[in-house]
Amino acid sequence: MAPRRAKTVAVYPGSFDPTTNGHLSLVQRASLLFDQLIVAVAHKPSKNLLFEFDERFELMKASVATLPEANRIKVVGFDGLLAHFVKQTDATAIIRGLRAVSDFEYEFQMALMNRKLVREAETVFLMPALSWVYLSSSIVKEVARNGGDVTGLVPTPVKRAIQRKLKTRK
Ligand code: PNS
Repeated sequence: MAPRRAKTVAVYPGSFDPTTNGHLSLVQRASLLFDQLIVAVAHKPSKNLLFEFDERFELMKASVATLPEANRIKVVGFDGLLAHFVKQTDATAIIRGLRAVSDFEYEFQMALMNRKLVREAETVFLMPALSWVYLSSSIVKEVARNGGDVTGLVPTPVKRAIQRKLKTRK
């Protein structure tokens, strides 16, 4: 384990395809615990994505800009292994969200692998506000694809981007 640093930095990685209010709840909570929060948007997560990297990145940036803690939060992109990216920062924590027991197995495996790859950082699990426990990017996309209203589940720029994207895909 790394010694405690004067300035605490955490990395919050994800696909953010797209940013939801649940992600923002976590960003806000983490930014209150650490001096600096780096939101790390994965270039090529192994997933079927709706949005390109640039879109996911810009939507997270626009969403974070609305938070009172925005000056202590940096949004960056990363390629390849998260562990390698974390090593290039001063971070001593990797933030991940836990919503339900179903998240646990995957998160546990990832946390232990990251611990092996980067000993300087511990994974810290945070829970979103109760209102967002059921929320995920996947469910938002599914609702939107099937004509459902996602108002109040995602930041407004994200809602507009989903509508534009789905229109061009028809
Ligand atoms: O929001 P997600 O899709 O749950 O985020 C997953 C992400 C992007 C954080 C994870 O897949 C990741 O870290 N990808 C980078 C490649 C990597 O380091 N994989 C091994 C993780 S132990």
